[in-house]
Amino acid sequence: MTLREIIKIKSLSASLGGRNILSDISFNVYDKEITVILGRSGAGKSVLLKHLLGLMDIQEGEVVIFGKDIAEMQEEEQKRLYFQMGVFYQNGGLLNALTVGENIALPLEQNSNLSHELIDHIVWSKLKLVNLLNAYYLYPSQLSGGMLKRAALARAIVMDPLLLFCDEPGAGLDPISLVSLDKLILNLREQLGMSIVVVTHEVSSIFRIADRIVFIDSGQVVFQGTLEEALQAQNKQVKNYFDTAK
Ligand SMILES: Nc1ncnc2c1ncn2[C@@H]1O[C@H](COP(=O)(O)OP(=O)(O)OP(=O)(O)O)[C@@H](O)[C@H]1O
Ligand SMILES: [Mg+2]
Repeated sequence: MTLREIIKIKSLSASLGGRNILSDISFNVYDKEITVILGRSGAGKSVLLKHLLGLMDIQEGEVVIFGKDIAEMQEEEQKRLYFQMGVFYQNGGLLNALTVGENIALPLEQNSNLSHELIDHIVWSKLKLVNLLNAYYLYPSQLSGGMLKRAALARAIVMDPLLLFCDEPGAGLDPISLVSLDKLILNLREQLGMSIVVVTHEVSSIFRIADRIVFIDSGQVVFQGTLEEALQAQNKQVKNYFDTAK
């Protein structure tokens, strides 16, 4: 089976505040795979994600998503592209003044012409998917950490994105909630055919969900390959990382 590239990153470099943060980063994200981006704190993972999400301008190099160079896109075209990309942030990012149901409906209210009835139907279906039907009328402050994550995930996928980005989805979860979040992420890939990019530090998660690993250190890719290849890798940082997890 040939792999289809969904994202192609070629020699991406970026300086921020006069410091080199990303250096010559190249890797691909493949269709219906879960790609895990790994690396210690400050390595440049979130900055890399921001470049893929159009939140930071490309200074050097190329990012091609669904076959299009994002730096060459017109605003309208970029907007359409980003509708096909869902983002799931570390802290959930739900609005406290709105109920969970309203929070999840928001992207559709703002970006589609669908009727309220249809939007409501979609919201319930996403809540069902993340196993959170009982939270529809609750406010974010009334949810546990694990429930908040699932609500945020429901919001990230409400527009049925083809590509989903998760920055530290499991941070702060107990091991059991983490397992159920990982199952959900796997389900999204299996049932909805999403391609998923996950930034995580959780080694147990990596074993459960990763198809492919990109290891970043000081803004550079020091290893990329499948999970099996990562476990066999001779690279010192990668070896250390998995050794400490044993
Ligand atoms: N907007 C910015 N301006 C200047 N420097 C920045 C900016 N954003 C991030 N940095 C710097 O870039 C480096 C990489 O940050 P980044 O947030 O990508 O790390 P990370 O790998 O996501 O770490 P963590 O695992 O802690 O989330 C850090 O040294 C950070 O201080
Ligand atoms: Mg980060």
